[in-house]
Amino acid sequence: MKNKRSREWFQAPEYYGFARRAWLRSEGFPHDVFDGKPVIGICNSWSELNNCNAHLRDVAAAVKRGVWAAGGVPLEFPTISLGEMFMRPTTMMFRNLMAMDVEESIRANPLDAVVLLCGCDKTTPAQLMGAASADIPAIVVPGGPMLAGEWRGQRLGSGTDGKKLFDQYRTGRITEEEWCEIEGCIARTAGHCTVMGTASTMTSLAEALGMTLPGCANIPAPDSRRMAIAELSGRAAVEMIEAERKPSRILTRAAFENAITVLMALGGSTNAVIHLIAMAGRLGIRLALEDFDRIARRTPCIVDVKPSGRFLMEDLFHAGGVPAVMNRIRDLLHCDCGTVNGRTVGENIPDASSLNNEVIRFLDRPLYAEGGIAVLNGNVAPNGAVIKQTAASERLLRHRGRAFVFNTRDEMLAQIDRDDLPVDANTVLVMRNCGPKGAPGFPEWGHIPMPRKLLLGGVEDVVRISDARMSGTSYGTVVLHVAPESAVGGPLALVENGDEILLDVPARKLELLVPQEELAKRAKVFQPPARHYDRGYGKLFVDHVTQAHEGCDFDFLSGIF
Ligand code: FES
Repeated sequence: MKNKRSREWFQAPEYYGFARRAWLRSEGFPHDVFDGKPVIGICNSWSELNNCNAHLRDVAAAVKRGVWAAGGVPLEFPTISLGEMFMRPTTMMFRNLMAMDVEESIRANPLDAVVLLCGCDKTTPAQLMGAASADIPAIVVPGGPMLAGEWRGQRLGSGTDGKKLFDQYRTGRITEEEWCEIEGCIARTAGHCTVMGTASTMTSLAEALGMTLPGCANIPAPDSRRMAIAELSGRAAVEMIEAERKPSRILTRAAFENAITVLMALGGSTNAVIHLIAMAGRLGIRLALEDFDRIARRTPCIVDVKPSGRFLMEDLFHAGGVPAVMNRIRDLLHCDCGTVNGRTVGENIPDASSLNNEVIRFLDRPLYAEGGIAVLNGNVAPNGAVIKQTAASERLLRHRGRAFVFNTRDEMLAQIDRDDLPVDANTVLVMRNCGPKGAPGFPEWGHIPMPRKLLLGGVEDVVRISDARMSGTSYGTVVLHVAPESAVGGPLALVENGDEILLDVPARKLELLVPQEELAKRAKVFQPPARHYDRGYGKLFVDHVTQAHEGCDFDFLSGIF
C-alpha cells in the first residue's frame, strides 16, 4: 500500500497512534475508518472575505462524496484565502504566505493526497506552489467562473466591462442611478471573474499543466457539472496515491511549455508570467521571459474572450473549454506530458473539437497572429517588461512620445483628473515605486486610469509604463513588470518629465531616448524610497521577494536561487 504516510500517524505503535485515532473519533468517525484507508486532504480556500471562492464548501462536499466512494477518507482543512477585491495593499503580497500555509499544512498533517480548491486570482498559483513543494499527489478543482453579468440587455464581463463603464460614469455619461443598477448585476453568482482575467487564466493553466481532470477549469460555478467533476476529482485523488502521481512527475519543463502555449492561445493574463515562473521555480525549473516570448511568437491567439476579444468565460465553456483549445493547438503542445488522471495530454483531448468557431477560432483565422503577451527589452527594463499586445491599441504598438512621470500611485491619483494636466494623446504616462519592494507587494496599479481631460477629448488610450502589475481583466497599451523595479534603482527611477520614450512592440523594444552619460548622472543622485516595514510579514516579504522576471517568490522558497 502506498498510503504509508497517513499510517505513520494512525498506526504508530505508541501512545499517539492511539491518541490520534481517538481524538479524530471525536468528529464522529467509526472505529475502523482510519484502518489503512488513504487520507485525502481537501485544501479549501473558502472564505466569506473572498466572494469568488465563497461556494467552495459546497464543492468540498462533492469532492468528499468521491473520496468516500473510492475508499478514502476526506478531511477538509482551511488555509488563508486571498480575496482580490478586498485585501490591502494587494493579494500579491500574500501569495507566498498562502503558498507557505498550503505547503506546511500538507507536510505537517497525516495526508496521502490533497485536493486543492481554488478560484480567485492568487489562490490557484499559491496552492500549486505549496503543493509542488510538499510534493504528495495533488489535484486541482477550481470553483469555476461566475455566470455573465447582464444590464439592460447588455452582457457584462466583470472587471473588463466594469472598468469601461466606470470611465463613462466618471465622465458623466452614466447616471448615478444607472451606476447603482450595474453594481447589482455585474457579479451575480458565485465564482471568479467572467473574462480571461488572472483567475480564468490560472485555472485554465492548471488544466493545461495536467493538474485538473480534463474539462474542469471552465465549467461555470453554478453549473451542476461543477459538482460532478468535483466528485470525480475526489475519486481520482484516491487513485493517484497508488500510482504515486505527484506534482514533480506532472509539472515538468514540457508541461510548463504547454501552459505557456495555452496562455498565448487564450490571450491570458500577464500575471500568469509571474506565477508560472514562481511555480516552476519550486521544482527547480528555470523559466525565462525569453521562453514566453519564443512561444508567443509561434502561437496564435485563438480564443475570442474579453479583455482581448468579445466573448465571456461561459461562452468558452460552451465552445468546449480548455480541451477544445488544446486540441486546436495540439501540434504546438507536448502531447506526451502526464496528467492527474494517468493519461497523457494527447490522450485527454482526442475528441475535443470546438463547438463554436467564433469563440475558439481556427488557426488560420486567429484573433491575433501571435500570442497575447509580448516581452520587451531595452534600457528602461534591462531585465524585461511585458505588454498584453492583444488588449492594446494597434496604433500605439509602435510609438514615440514624451514622458509624464508620477513618482507614486498616490501622486497619480491626486493629479490624473486635473483639467490642466500637461498631457496629450502622444504622452507616455510613467508611474514608479509600484513594484514588489517599492509599493510594496507588486499591486495591480499598472492600468493607470486615462486622464479625464483626454477622455473628454475622445482619447481612449495612451501608452502607460510602470513597474506594477495589471489586473488580467484590464486592457489598453500598458507596459508592466518593468525590471528591475524603480525602488531598487532600476532605470525607471531615472525617467524625467519630457524625456522621449520609444515603444516598439513588434521589435520588442522599450527605450528611454536619453544619452547614457545623462542617465549615469541621474543614477548617481538616486535615493531609494523609505522602507515600508520594520517588522512582521511585511519585513519578511520586502527582504526576500524576488523581482518580476524571477517570479516574485521568496528567495528561500524557490528551488532556483
Ligand atoms: Fe476574484 Fe476577479 S475578484 S477573480
